[in-house]
Amino acid sequence: MYSFDYYNPTHICFGEGKIAELDNLVPPDAKVLVLFGGNSARSTGTLDEVKAALKQRNVVEFGGIEANPTYETLMQAVEVVKQQNIDFLLAVGGGSVIDGTKFVAAATLFEGEPWDILLSWGANVTQAMPFGTVLTLPATGSEMNSASVVTRKSLQAKLSFMSNHVFPKFSVLDPSKTFTLPERQVANGVVDAFIHITEQYLNYPVNAPVQDRFAEGLLQTLIELGPKALSEPKDFDVRANLMWVAAMALSGVIGKGVPHDWATHMIGHEITVLYGVDHARTIAMILPGMLDVRREGKQEKLLQYADRVWGINQGSKDEIIDEAIEKTREFFEAMGIKTRLSDYDLDSSSINEIINKLEAHGMTALGEKQDVDLAMSRKILERNL
Ligand code: NZQ
Ligand code: ZN
Repeated sequence: MYSFDYYNPTHICFGEGKIAELDNLVPPDAKVLVLFGGNSARSTGTLDEVKAALKQRNVVEFGGIEANPTYETLMQAVEVVKQQNIDFLLAVGGGSVIDGTKFVAAATLFEGEPWDILLSWGANVTQAMPFGTVLTLPATGSEMNSASVVTRKSLQAKLSFMSNHVFPKFSVLDPSKTFTLPERQVANGVVDAFIHITEQYLNYPVNAPVQDRFAEGLLQTLIELGPKALSEPKDFDVRANLMWVAAMALSGVIGKGVPHDWATHMIGHEITVLYGVDHARTIAMILPGMLDVRREGKQEKLLQYADRVWGINQGSKDEIIDEAIEKTREFFEAMGIKTRLSDYDLDSSSINEIINKLEAHGMTALGEKQDVDLAMSRKILERNL
């Protein structure tokens, strides 16, 4: 196992009715900007519940943060924060609202052009405003990590940054808030969490059985409960466990001391920015081809994954790996998520556009061994056409 530094200061408040805890979590004299997305926070009643829990505090609202939050919209929020002397931010929503709030928290105190935060991957962030979150969509793990992904529409760029300064102070996770999610978003959440795990697990072994077994348990939980969330949409326990899996998948705990890949995610971001496909769907259409093309470098972990997660251990190494990749694809499809580029009307000309974007963003040496160059990315995309 590699040496590591594990820091995660986010206070998690988990369970039905926990939004009421906001009164204890948010400083009593804070002037709060509540940030949310399109309409779901309002129409589901969650926004009202949040405002009621904030009691006497001075509250300002900022709605309209879009899925795949944009720099253009978030900079308007930065203006509101400055003009209204806001001193605490509260995100109410899914990964997009939380990621957007992280950017606002860092950009408000940033000296210089805030887009540089993304260009430096967060290395130049030295401070950020305090913020908390009320999660309504389990998927990204943003509620318990220090990462954020922001799109700048005018540049057609979707880039990410990380900084210890943008861990949420707290996150409220009430599983009953996820009952209003459309099926499509439930499925997106399950598949996104699944691939967060594979990015940190399906690499090469470094003798880290704690991380491996934890990752395998999380994957098996998603395989067991994902379909149930679709077939039994009112089951609280299923929602609760999925919410905790998604947080654990990207809170750092399974990723410390082990190699990381993230090539699937980096290619996926280019597909979202070019064609507007949901984040989870972009990575579902890449992962099977990614594992197929890179089976040699990932061989040992792919065999371990096949055996421990899917119970596949008969046949040649290649046959076992083929079957594990097929099972993975079938799982995504069973969640209602298509796994080929052509399912999303993408063709070979789209592949050229994706490759051009990867090149423009310097994504030319991806993966745990930095061996995913543009030629390999092209091969991966072609394998999944
Ligand atoms: O905008 P509203 O009306 O609120 O509707 C949202 C949105 O349209 C809706 N929704 C959320 N909670 C709901 C609900 N509808 C009904 N009931 C509820 N309880 O769901 C739609 C999608 O929301 P969004 O926040 O965009 O989804 P998700 O949580 O999947 O976040 C995706 C974003 O996170 C980034 C992605 O790139 C993408 O921009 N990621 C962030 C990561 C991180 N910070 O660590 C890691 C991920 O890999 C990912 O890249
Ligand atoms: Zn993701």
